[in-house]
Amino acid sequence: MDLYAAIKGRRSIRRYKPDMVPKEVITRILEMATWAPSGLNWQQWEFLVITGPKKDALAASYGRIVEFGMPPAGQRTPQQEDFLRWARTLGGAPVAVVALTRAHGQPGTRKMNLESVAAAFTILLLAAANEGLGTCWMTGPLNNETELRKVLEIPADKEIVAVTPLGYPAESPEPAPRKALDEVVTWIGF
Ligand SMILES: Cc1cc2nc3c(=O)[nH]c(=O)nc-3n(C[C@H](O)[C@H](O)[C@H](O)COP(=O)(O)O)c2cc1C
Repeated sequence: MDLYAAIKGRRSIRRYKPDMVPKEVITRILEMATWAPSGLNWQQWEFLVITGPKKDALAASYGRIVEFGMPPAGQRTPQQEDFLRWARTLGGAPVAVVALTRAHGQPGTRKMNLESVAAAFTILLLAAANEGLGTCWMTGPLNNETELRKVLEIPADKEIVAVTPLGYPAESPEPAPRKALDEVVTWIGF
């Protein structure tokens, strides 16, 4: 697929088919992610690739924190119910990927580490789209970080960067609108 078409064709997917993704396909995507640039070429990313009960526990922990911020059952809008269902199940995706980096107390180094993993995660999402797979970059699950760490046994010397479900899309959402370039670009010296 042409790179520009892949970039424009990727969508955040929030409903998945239950079909398992072959391990060799996941491996290809992860290998692509490791071609991202990284600060000092430290390649300071780690990926947890999760299926089965641990994936379900991750989703449940996200569901609990989402539900915490909502009105009680019976008083929710259909949109809130939809969002809660998405959170509790990760849209039915068979796999979740969690990206980690080395925790660092020095703000500049912490930023470098986070940016390096974000670069790799972007490539992961694009490579997944290239394989016909859906993803959704999520930081929402980090709102229940204590429980997430416990479920996945993530030690304190690792920082959790992002989570994505991974699976075959069961929806084709319209593209989310983008700001006009002149809202976000300042040309200097042109
Ligand atoms: C840093 C980051 C955090 C995000 N966190 C969430 C999240 O917690 N839950 C969610 O449903 N989507 C999340 N998203 C997805 C965005 O909502 C989505 O990328 C945006 O609406 C644009 O849609 P698109 O990805 O289909 O182009 C996140 C995206 C980014 C980059």
